[in-house]
This record gives sequence, structure tokens and C-alpha cells, in this order.
Amino acid sequence: MPTIHVDGKAYEAPADKDLLSVLIDLGINLPYFCWHPAMGSVGACRQCAVKVYHGDSDQHGRIVMACMTPVSDGLRLSVKDPEVTAFRQRVIEWLMVNHPHDCPICDEGGECHLQDMTVMTGHAYRRYRGRKRTYRNQYLGPFVNHEMNRCIQCYRCLRFYRDYAGGRDFDVFASKDHTYFGRYEDGVLESEFSGNLVEVCPTGVFTDKTLKAHYTRKWDLETAPSICAHCGIGCNIIPGARYGMLRRIYPRFHPEINGYFICDRGRYGYEFANDPRRLRAPVSGKGQQQPVSWPEAMRQAQEALAACERVLGVGSPRASLEANYVLQALVGEDAFSPGISAAEHEGVSLAIDLLRRGPARSAALAEAESADTMLILGADPTNEAPMLDLAIRQGVHRARLDLVREAGIPEWNDYPVRNQLQDRRGRLFIAAVASMKLEAIAEETYYATPPELAALGASIAEAARKRSGDDQTLPGRVAQALLSAKQPLVVASVSGGPDLLRAAASIANSVSRARETACLLAITVPECNSIGVGMLGGRTLDDLFAEIESGRADGLIVLENDLFRRESPERVAEVLRSLRFLIAIDHLPTRTAAQADLALPATTFAETTGTLINNEGRAQRFYRVFVPEGEVRPSWQALRDLLQTQRPGTAAWASPEEALGALAEERPEFAPALEAAPPATWRDRVGQKIARESHRDSGRTAKDADRRVFEPQPPADPATPFAFSMEGYQAEPPAALYPRYWYPGWNSVQALYRSHFESGSPPYGGMPGRRLLAPSGGLAPAHEAPTPASPAPLATDEIWLAPRAVIFGSEELSRQAPAVASVMPPPTVRLNPVDAGKLAIADGASVRLHAQGQVFVVPANLDPGVAVGVAVVPIGYPETAGIFGISRARIEPVT
Ligand code: SF4
Ligand code: SF4
Ligand code: FES
Repeated sequence: MPTIHVDGKAYEAPADKDLLSVLIDLGINLPYFCWHPAMGSVGACRQCAVKVYHGDSDQHGRIVMACMTPVSDGLRLSVKDPEVTAFRQRVIEWLMVNHPHDCPICDEGGECHLQDMTVMTGHAYRRYRGRKRTYRNQYLGPFVNHEMNRCIQCYRCLRFYRDYAGGRDFDVFASKDHTYFGRYEDGVLESEFSGNLVEVCPTGVFTDKTLKAHYTRKWDLETAPSICAHCGIGCNIIPGARYGMLRRIYPRFHPEINGYFICDRGRYGYEFANDPRRLRAPVSGKGQQQPVSWPEAMRQAQEALAACERVLGVGSPRASLEANYVLQALVGEDAFSPGISAAEHEGVSLAIDLLRRGPARSAALAEAESADTMLILGADPTNEAPMLDLAIRQGVHRARLDLVREAGIPEWNDYPVRNQLQDRRGRLFIAAVASMKLEAIAEETYYATPPELAALGASIAEAARKRSGDDQTLPGRVAQALLSAKQPLVVASVSGGPDLLRAAASIANSVSRARETACLLAITVPECNSIGVGMLGGRTLDDLFAEIESGRADGLIVLENDLFRRESPERVAEVLRSLRFLIAIDHLPTRTAAQADLALPATTFAETTGTLINNEGRAQRFYRVFVPEGEVRPSWQALRDLLQTQRPGTAAWASPEEALGALAEERPEFAPALEAAPPATWRDRVGQKIARESHRDSGRTAKDADRRVFEPQPPADPATPFAFSMEGYQAEPPAALYPRYWYPGWNSVQALYRSHFESGSPPYGGMPGRRLLAPSGGLAPAHEAPTPASPAPLATDEIWLAPRAVIFGSEELSRQAPAVASVMPPPTVRLNPVDAGKLAIADGASVRLHAQGQVFVVPANLDPGVAVGVAVVPIGYPETAGIFGISRARIEPVT
């Protein structure tokens, strides 16, 4: 490792990094703006100046930008030299010439990198007395606020939005001394990752528009580490709350999953937790629901369940592993369902089986980023698992950068090439039922019906097995590309149907065996704990309903699940009507809760603690961030209390961790989940818990000072290592327990770069999360997908129905958030104009679809990007309730 000398002190430094990141990792304060660890260096802001010396005799030195300087052995430099210190002061002075002095009313204030860097350089007085340059701000949609006067022209926003995330509706516009970062006209930002501008921008140009509606300074927020509940990827997040209200979400760094970023659904879906219609107290009595106390609710539940012949339990892929387990323990394994439709149940179970068998290995997002050749078979990552889209984009980009590596240019300095190659396509192959955003960077696309895609998948797997290098057919070309890749990746989806899942696994397995090393397989799943409930197992919802319909069961407990989304609403209504007693436990006033005899108010993900298992099979812990208003309880706790009333003396679990321990004891495959994060008993060296609130020095004294002059006792929280207080451990915690990012002098999110975790050191406390799914049998098992039998041809009025997720609208929780709801596309059936022509369906006209035992009517949306013979409808809309998985549909215009 090279040795560098900084102001006379010797340090070891990695050779493949730029000097700025090395200095930051060494804990040396050096201001910067344009450098970003995920986007590298461009040398735009001139803020990170240091003085370097040539050899021992050089006394004068020369000023260089640290972010543009490679590390070399023996490098001698100064950060403190008076000339370079003055240089940095002048740089920030000129950057501040046009910057408004509006910190008190700026949403970035108190967590602003520009504030931090201004203080760090010592620039304290404004000498400029002239008029400032001003701009007109733009309307950028419901997520991001724009205040261009605060811009310091660092170009980070542009580099993130266009080069990193592939957005095309945002740019830099310039005339004379005016440089403008925005859209060419007002309008909603099109990128699914636009919210990252909030942290990427080092000033207050881009701020969280949803936070504005209930604004709170960073130092007034209660925060704790959490996991995004809006898809199966499991991005790490930090929710912030105050006065019993969830205020915002920002990304929490995880080097193997989401890195520094999250998607807009994950960031802006949180406002469902503040829904004024939320259940805040138990309510009893079908129809005319009356608030009752918890003891009364428990008494009624106990009495009613005892009177039932047989009680069934419906779990939920959006509830924690612990809550699902306690419900399973309450009703018994033979009376429990994970609460998903039969088609989804089959898909999730198959995904778990495929990831267990191998030899292909499930891909973490960071591994997907490192893939240089990718095949998407029947999935739509942008809409199903948005951060996988971002990872694929980085993979495509990295593969294009062979030129950079061949030229010996370090990756941190790749910007000119990245810029030059931004529209060049990469080694990405897409085979799907309809066009998708990622096709803009794909080498080849193939849009076809589900059976044609499954046949293509089987042919690719066959070509990979044969390893024939001169096969120039599409399957041959794709197989060759995967076989010759440094790191191949196959992406599939549970919603694409079992045939495509098997075909994708068969390709990945064939490639693994041919290369004698595991190919990566990423399978997207519909919800945040789909894999968790899938692993718990149980019967299909259809099966449970059949038992109720046959009169063999008359009691039902539904955990955080709206059954009207899962099955035909008519059937659900009929099933619920025939019950003797229905208990619904939820935080949203769903249709199911409205039909319940007893509705118990549950906490949201931000108000309780638990474990979720993501699409790669990684168990991750989320923690209670705040105490909600009202008589709201965690689901696992309400179910445990019911269990104790049913079987006194059992289930003496005081925390979700203890419930998880019981599950791990019963079923050892869950045991690694206990290691996903340090235990609730974690304390620092002097016995303190981690403070959920920022340091007392932050400026706050008594947070309730407007309402009372004493500080009440904070709520007890024995189930977590966190305290509801400013008092407690404030230094760097174990990696899974970061409640916020802060470092002396660093108040913005960029304090993260000062953490040991981020710098690549082995994480203190271990890497957050534990994998529960891994291939068991090396490369050997011969698990091949049978080539699916060709289905009977479609009749003239038939079509393949492909229900697909949409990023804003399909997911149950985020669609309740007003900002997300405002950008949801209307429900339509997307049809190729060829099919529409044959069936005499006009664009916008109503269409009736008969499929999966249901009839539903939606407007037609003629879209040449949809394969001929396919009708695409959105999952999760009331208009398409209960539809999941590929099926045939009869289609007709509504006359
Ligand atoms: S808007 Fe923000 S990120 Fe973009 S150039 Fe200006 S200061 Fe930098
Ligand atoms: S990709 Fe999924 S888990 Fe990640 S932030 Fe978006 S919705 Fe949340
Ligand atoms: S951070 Fe080095 S020039 Fe901007």
C-alpha cells in the first residue's frame, strides 16, 4: 500500500482511490462539493484544493484538486498550508457571491453541506455588496422542490440524474454567466430516482416537497434505522418523525444493497402512516363500529374465538416475520395462509425453491451492479423493484467502461468517458411482454407473449448447455454473451409466472455449470416480506376460503392484509359474510377492516420493530422510530396477547426478538435472522442506549417547550437498543444501528462519508442483515426447467393477460400517500394496436376482460410497445383487484 505524507504525518493509502476520498477516510477535514463516492470526481467546484510537493526539496509546492489527484507512493501534500487555505476560502467566497442568505427559511438549514463547508473553510463575512443573480424556479412535480438561487454550480445533480440514473428530462442550460439546472419547462420529473437530488445537491436547491408540508429540522427529528416497506428489495432507510407524525424518509447506506440511494416510491410512500383515516383505537361491531378499550377488545376476541368451530389466520407479505409467526402459532400451521393469491403463492414458493437449489445464486443489488452482461426475462425492474433498475444501469455502464480500464484510467476518474458513452447501449438483453424504460440502454429486445418468452428461455438454456459459439440465433447470441461475461446476471419476476421463472433459473443454472462458477439470479417479488411469509409457508388463500365456504371454518384473523386486493372482491365479500367472527389487525382502514367484527389498530413499519426478508433471502431488522398517537399496538403484540388468552402460560415473549428466537428454535433455517442486527440488549461501554434524537448541542433544549416546561420521562423501549431521548450514545454505532449521520462539523447526510462503515472498513458489528437462502449443492444439481408444452392457440376473442406492477399505484401502502397518489397513472389495459384493430377497440374505449374467474372493465390504452397477443393491466388497483399471474383472458369492447 502506498504511503502518503499529509502535513508531515505519514499514512497508508489505497492506490486505487483519489486523494480526496483517502483524506476523508483518514478523518482529515477537507471541504468539497462536486465529488461523490458513487459518481467519482470531476474537479468542477475547485473546493478540495491541497498543495502537493515534488520531492523532498520542493518548498513551494503547487495547488491541485485532491479529487482529481491519484494516490502515489511517497506523495507529500499539505491541507493546512496558508496559501491553499486562503485559496479554499476564496473559492467558497465566490461560490457564495450569488447564494442567498436564506438559511433560516431554507429546508436544508441545519443539515446543509454548504453550511458545513463554509464554516470549515472559515469564510465568515460577505464582502460582495452588489446585486445577486436570480432565477425563476420550476414546478418539478409533487416530490422535489426547486430553489435555483441557491445553486453553486457543482453539477452533482446533473451527473446523478442523467449519467447515473439515466433520466433525460433534466439538464443544464447556460447563457452568459447564468447556469440553470432543471427541466426545459415546468413539469413532473420523470426519473423514478428524482428524490435523490435532495441529498445529492449539497445546498437547498432540491428539497423534499412532502417534508415541506410538515417541516421539521433535522435536529428535531426522532430517527432509527429501518427497511423500506414498499417492495421486495429491502433498501435501508432512516425515517424521521416528530410529535407522533412520520415526516420524511432518507436513504441509509448499505454497501451490498441500496448503496447511497433509494427510489421515489421508497422515499415518498411514507405518508400512508399519517393518513387521517388510520385506525387509532380498537373498534367493535360489524357495520356500526364502536371504539372499545384494548382489554374489552381482547375480552370480546377471546370469547368470540372460543365460540368458533375453527379459526383460520391470514398473514401478510407486508407484515413482519415476527407478526406472521405469532399468528401462525396462534391458529396452527394447518390453519395459516401467507395471505397471497394462489398464483402469487406458487411464484413465491418457486422462487424460494430455485434460490435454495442453485447453482445460480441470488444477487444482492451491489452484485447486480457488478454484472457486465444481463438478461431480463419477463420482469420489469423499474416498476417492480426500482433500485434493481438503478443497479442494472450501473452494470451496463461499468461494462461500457472497458475502454477506461484498458486505457489505465482509474474508475473514480471516468467522467469524460461516462459522459461520452452515456447513450451507448450495453450488454443487456430484454425479453418481456411489453417495452420498458431500460430498453433505452439494451443491446437487444424481444417482446412476445408469455409462452413465446418461456420457449425463448428454454432455447437460451439449451444453447448455454451446448456452448456452441457459432450459433447466431437470438438464443445463441444471448447464451454466448452470458457464457463469456465476467459476471452474468439473469433477472426474473414472480409476477412473470412460473414458466418464465423456471426458464430464467434454467438459463442461470446452465450458465453456472458451463462456466463452473455461479451465475447471478435476481428474482423480483411483489412485497417487502414476500420471501419471509413464503418461507414460513402455509396454505393458499384460495384453500382457506374454500374451507370457510364449505362451513368447516367460521372464525378468521386477518393480519395487515386487505383480502379484497387478493381475490375476487365478490368472493371475498361472500366469504366474510359467512364468518361467525372476523378480526382484522391493520393500520389502514381497509375494506377488510371495515367488514370486521373487531378491528385492532396496528403500528406501521415506523412504529414497531421487526424483521423482513428481501428478495435475495436476506433478513433485515427495522426499528421503531416513534410512538404513534392513540391506542395503536404492534400486530405481533396483539397476536401474542390473544395467544396467551387462548393458551395461558405460553408465548411469554416480551419482544419481537424473543418471538423470532422461538421461531428460530422451531425452524433452524430462520436462526441467522437473529444475527441480522445486534440484540436489543446492545449498550455502549458505559451502558447507554443509542439516542434516537440528535445531540443536545444541536441547539434544541426541551422539544416540548411550546407545550410544557418540563421534560417528561421518555417512553421505555426494552425491545430495541434505542432510547427515545437526546441522551445516550451518539458516536458511531454498529453498522445495522445507524439512527442518523452526524460527525463533528458535518451535519448533512455527507457525514456518512466520515463513517468507518462507508469507507469500506470491516463494518463494526458486522454487515447488517443475514442471508437465509443460499444454494445448497454446489454446481452439480441438474435442475432444469421442462420445456413448457405449447399452449393451445388463442381464440379470436382471446388474449394473454399479463398483470404488471406500476411503480406508483400497485403497492398498497405507498398508493395511500398523497404525493404518490397524485402521479399514479389511471388503470388501463395496454394493447397492441394490431390486437385492438382486430377486436374493433378504440384508444380510450372501455374494454371488458374475462379472466381468472372475474370480469373487469377498464379503458384501452393502445401501445405499440406491447407484444401482439398480450394485454397488460396494472396490479393492485381496485379496478383489477385479485388479478395476479399470467392467464388467458376473453376480451371484448364494451358497446
Ligand atoms: S442544483 Fe445543487 S447539485 Fe445541481 S449544480 Fe446546483 S448546487 Fe450542484
Ligand atoms: S427499490 Fe423498493 S425497497 Fe428500495 S426504496 Fe424503492 S420501493 Fe423501497
Ligand atoms: S470536490 Fe474536488 S473540485 Fe469539487
